[in-house]
Amino acid sequence: MGKVIVVTSGKGGVGKTTSTAALGAALARNGDKVVVVDFDVGLRNLDLVMGAERRVVYDLVNVIQGEAKLTQALIRDKRLETLYLLPASQTRDKDNLTAEGVETVIGALRHAFDWVICDSPAGIERGATLAMRHADVAIVVTNPEVSSVRDSDRIIGLLDSKTLKAENGERMEKHLLLTRYDPVRAERGDMLKVDDVLEILSIPLLGIIPESMDVLRASNVGSPVTLADEKSAPALAYFDAARRLQGEMLPITVPGERRGSFFGKFFGRKAA
Ligand SMILES: Nc1ncnc2c1ncn2[C@@H]1O[C@H](COP(=O)(O)OP(=O)(O)OP(=O)(O)O)[C@@H](O)[C@H]1O
Ligand SMILES: [Mg+2]
Repeated sequence: MGKVIVVTSGKGGVGKTTSTAALGAALARNGDKVVVVDFDVGLRNLDLVMGAERRVVYDLVNVIQGEAKLTQALIRDKRLETLYLLPASQTRDKDNLTAEGVETVIGALRHAFDWVICDSPAGIERGATLAMRHADVAIVVTNPEVSSVRDSDRIIGLLDSKTLKAENGERMEKHLLLTRYDPVRAERGDMLKVDDVLEILSIPLLGIIPESMDVLRASNVGSPVTLADEKSAPALAYFDAARRLQGEMLPITVPGERRGSFFGKFFGRKAA
């Protein structure tokens, strides 16, 4: 049985779709069978970031409404044979997603894949709660700015109350992915520092992704950054985050600081 991950955020435009594609590709590159699922009905941008927009025939809504089989809607990545996309509909609205339909689709995907990564719409609307409902693990994508951190706090509250895990009295595994981190702006005080964010949102840190033009370049050529430019700083940060998802304990690097400095800062001092 695979793991179901929801990639979520309170505020929009923080990097959920970018992160879903990058982590999905990173996990699939290691041979794991991965499906990335677009829950953002209406906007449909995961297919663009994956470079599969011209290959979309059926989508999540078609499957839920019985107009297509799951196997007809799944698109296999052209670069990695263990990576698949389940696209969202461009034209229909969010009301076409039913709770029962989502449950059936996620259940089927969980059986067929090692990782089911759901790209959620932002906020606390129905689409977002449906995307998180069946998750085992949540990745809360946050930018180092006050409004994003505050909205993430709300989402953490939802994860702890509106998910199946929460309703069954189980603990929802939550990870913080800090994206678009710019060390120069953090140093100037224009952005929150990592410690400030962690103090407010007390969930474990999965990684810190630097602000980088490489992300835009990758998205322009329709490729997850972990495939477009695997040596770039954001790709390396996403590869590390993927390994942490797989259970590895890796030191976290704050962009602009020495590799491993984050652990050094928090644990090294005690040892010294
Ligand atoms: N690390 C990064 N460096 C630079 N730009 C980034 C980075 N991460 C994301 N972006 C850019 O930020 C914008 C928003 O990213 P993305 O679409 O992934 O966010 P989102 O959270 O999915 O947005 P929405 O809430 O609208 O679904 C995109 O233009 C993307 O290229
Ligand atoms: Mg998105």
